[in-house]
Amino acid sequence: MTLPLSFYQENRQKLMAQLPDNSVVIVPSGGEKIRNRDVEFLFRPESDFFYLTGFGEPDSVLVLMKMDDVESHLFVRPKDPKQETWQGRRLGVECAAETLGVNHAWCIDELDEGILSLLENSASVYLSFSQSSDWVISLYEWISELKKKIRQGVEAPHQICDLDPVLHEMRVIKSEVEIKCLRQAAAISVQGHLAAMKSVSSSSFEYQVQAELEAEFVRQGSPRVAFNSIIASGKNACVLHYTENRSAIEPGVLVLVDAGAEWQGYAGDITSTFPANGVFSPAQAQLYTLVLNAQQAAIRTIKPGVSYDVVHQASVQVLTQGLLELGLLKGSLEQLIEDEAFKCFFMHGTGHWLGMDVHDVGQYKKQQKWRSFEVGMVLTVEPGLYISAEHSQVDSKWHNIGIRIEDDVVVTESGCEILTKGLPRTVNEIETWMRPFLGTKAS
Ligand code: GLY
Ligand code: MN
Repeated sequence: MTLPLSFYQENRQKLMAQLPDNSVVIVPSGGEKIRNRDVEFLFRPESDFFYLTGFGEPDSVLVLMKMDDVESHLFVRPKDPKQETWQGRRLGVECAAETLGVNHAWCIDELDEGILSLLENSASVYLSFSQSSDWVISLYEWISELKKKIRQGVEAPHQICDLDPVLHEMRVIKSEVEIKCLRQAAAISVQGHLAAMKSVSSSSFEYQVQAELEAEFVRQGSPRVAFNSIIASGKNACVLHYTENRSAIEPGVLVLVDAGAEWQGYAGDITSTFPANGVFSPAQAQLYTLVLNAQQAAIRTIKPGVSYDVVHQASVQVLTQGLLELGLLKGSLEQLIEDEAFKCFFMHGTGHWLGMDVHDVGQYKKQQKWRSFEVGMVLTVEPGLYISAEHSQVDSKWHNIGIRIEDDVVVTESGCEILTKGLPRTVNEIETWMRPFLGTKAS
């Protein structure tokens, strides 16, 4: 499935409908980045650009204008047979307008003169202050060039505005088409996590689990991971964004896998935690069940009108109560919650917006107040507990256990839909599911 051009055209139209007349919007794709010497990182366009064009080539710039009408201009790399033989095909200027449904295509080499002509007589220029701030210098140069033509009657823009509040607000609320893509990203991610669980007992190293997980993503048609996969066994799971994935998987540890596939530019984001040898120890099972209870309590709160922070409060309530019962915290429940005593074991939020970016764009608060859920918002729900051995005050049976359980949900009229269905989640479900796949490790 590729998304129809109309999806991107409508996004452009919706954006421009919200801007005043005489506005110009500049959205760059970003360029290739060197990894080392002459090796580049795999290119992936900036999400704002992809949301408005569906175009995947680097060194492209979208310019939208709202003068008498709305016009779309796209600057792209020119055709270059020699470069294309080495680096891959380019769409080229000649085909870009028709293929991508924009009004005019330009060669990226004409950017300066092209943008100068497009900025003439406009009043406001919009660009992303979070992603394109390095364009402000060029913008000032273009504006000062235009100001030199004042005696010829040329007007230059007199406002530079942040595009983020308008465009990112659009991206927070997902359309049906976007939810379908997120559902597919989630479904592929689920298949990858099942492959990881299947392989773990016969894997000696974290990277072997990563290989099975990501092979499944690729097999299912995902072009790339949505973020670097985390395969963290034992104490590595207490490092929240551990991505080395090089350690040996010791017998009896838990393995935390936080990974997601990308689909049509949309991200899946799942965390599963399961025992390397298919069976939880009593301490692991107790902490795991506590995190799962917190996650389920958090998911149950999600429906339109509920404030965003209620989700976190729900998981904090369950986790603190459980930590108290298990003896990892001491004191009164109310006081511990007020003091945020859980933070030494649960140091992140309960989730984040999810979309084209894994930590998707959009405000969490408005006028300093947590915003309320609306139909079409998509978020992750991912409480965790991380008990590193540095916590010498707690019984050593809890040490080096890191657990996170993460699912992706979309807010619906009646509550929420879990996009990442299909994974065994309770201790019993996981042990039962893993049993047929328990193998012996290759030495
Ligand atoms: N899955 C990575 C994160 O949410 O930080
Ligand atoms: Mn996440």
